Amino acid sequence: MQSSIYEKTIEALAEGGIESPRLEARLLIADALGVDVNQMPITPMGDDNVQETLERHIEKRLEGMPIDKILGHREFYKNDFFVSRDVLSPRPDTEILVEEALKIIEANGSKRVLDLGVGSGCILLSLLAEVKDLEGVGVDASSKALAVAQKNAKKLKLTKRVKLLEKNWFDNGFVGVFEKPFDIIVSNPPYIKTADIEKLDIGVKKYDPILALDGGEDGLDSYRKIAEFAPFLLFDDGYLLLEVGRRQSRAVKEIFTDKGLVHLGTVKDLAGIERVLIFKK
Ligand SMILES: C[S@@+](CC[C@H](N)C(=O)[O-])C[C@H]1O[C@@H](n2cnc3c(N)ncnc32)[C@H](O)[C@@H]1O
Repeated sequence: MQSSIYEKTIEALAEGGIESPRLEARLLIADALGVDVNQMPITPMGDDNVQETLERHIEKRLEGMPIDKILGHREFYKNDFFVSRDVLSPRPDTEILVEEALKIIEANGSKRVLDLGVGSGCILLSLLAEVKDLEGVGVDASSKALAVAQKNAKKLKLTKRVKLLEKNWFDNGFVGVFEKPFDIIVSNPPYIKTADIEKLDIGVKKYDPILALDGGEDGLDSYRKIAEFAPFLLFDDGYLLLEVGRRQSRAVKEIFTDKGLVHLGTVKDLAGIERVLIFKK
């Protein structure tokens, strides 16, 4: 394996229909070499082990595995997060939720935040990393997802300000788990209609956990459940921010206003889709 490692990788990825073969080739080669992509030599060289790792990477990529799941990490907001098949890969759209939550936290001096469905921890830990005296609780029904969130908390040196709990919000007594209310609740719950999961890209339906995707028959099961208990977990004047899927914002708004929360605003993503709903108790 000599100077053509880069060209060969690009060619293999391009032939396999990968959209950005140059960028991905750099990422995969850097990972196989064990170097930062920004410090990769112009003419990368490697021994047989590197070659083998790279070939495995390319094989997985051509089978449809998303690049972040191969590399085991992904950038989100201002930090790099460990990811695995046990967590939803953080999506750029979710950064909007983080930005909106930060505006509210900074304007109100919020001290306690709850993340329902914490997954990799990308939302909660991004907030804690930005606001030095904020404390957070992250809940997830998946112990494997929580293990990833814990690893991320450690990496970002946030373990002292975060508590991770394995709980299912459909279980009786869920609300009783929390010692006191929160200033702000954030959530990106599963919101795909069960029947639509089959139609998702292979990178999503095969490599993101089903628990992170499946929102029930109409995609709204978790919103209905969260609406039942969220008002009891918020201080008076507390805020709730939710990510929603395409064409769900009207229905979700109604679910929460029916429970007495006040809708303050809706924020669109870059594609013009209503993506984040903001409520106040
Ligand atoms: C769409 S993912 C969001 C993960 C992460 N917050 C993010 O934005 O990337 C939803 C998360 O909710 C968790 N979850 C789904 N249903 C749940 C339930 N009934 N109780 C607790 N957690 C649940 C999943 O395990 C998953 O981690």
